[in-house]
Amino acid sequence: MLDTLENLHRTCFPHKPWTASDFADLKKSGCDIMASQNGFVVWRVVADEAEIITIGVHPDARGTGIAPAMLTLVENDVKKRGGTKIFLEVAADNQPARALYEKNGYVNIGVRPKYYDGTDAILMEKTL
Ligand SMILES: CC(C)(COP(=O)(O)OP(=O)(O)OC[C@H]1O[C@@H](n2cnc3c(N)ncnc32)[C@H](O)[C@@H]1OP(=O)(O)O)[C@@H](O)C(=O)NCCC(=O)NCCS
Repeated sequence: MLDTLENLHRTCFPHKPWTASDFADLKKSGCDIMASQNGFVVWRVVADEAEIITIGVHPDARGTGIAPAMLTLVENDVKKRGGTKIFLEVAADNQPARALYEKNGYVNIGVRPKYYDGTDAILMEKTL
């Protein structure tokens, strides 16, 4: 499973691929991972707050509803565990991701200037 995830992550993030061992470390550190052949999401719940660490959909499967479905899955898990807020960071120039998050109820709450190799990170939050 982690090898498939490594390949899918490389396809989604060719400039910053994570290895199977990176995913194993994330699991060991308490993150949850949901992955299928075409999509993955990694999140972490700490007390009543959660963070989406990463999400990706294979380019051939984008626009098919996988990404919003994964966000719903994460939200349901966070709610079940008593979480009330989900946070995430997204590169300011990542229009598809920002559109996805905005359509699914995330709002901008801050900016980390030049966080990603010179590009700002937008900090977003959703209250459940
Ligand atoms: C972000 C990602 C998971 C979204 O998956 P997806 O299947 O495209 O998601 P959706 O189709 O549900 O939503 C994306 C929205 O962005 C829009 N969009 C797509 N490409 C766009 C572009 N270049 N500019 C602006 N909007 C764009 C889509 O039209 C869609 O909006 P719509 O539902 O109103 O049509 C996917 O693009 C991906 O894996 N990207 C690479 C990894 C990544 O950047 N992850 C997020 C890191 S924070």
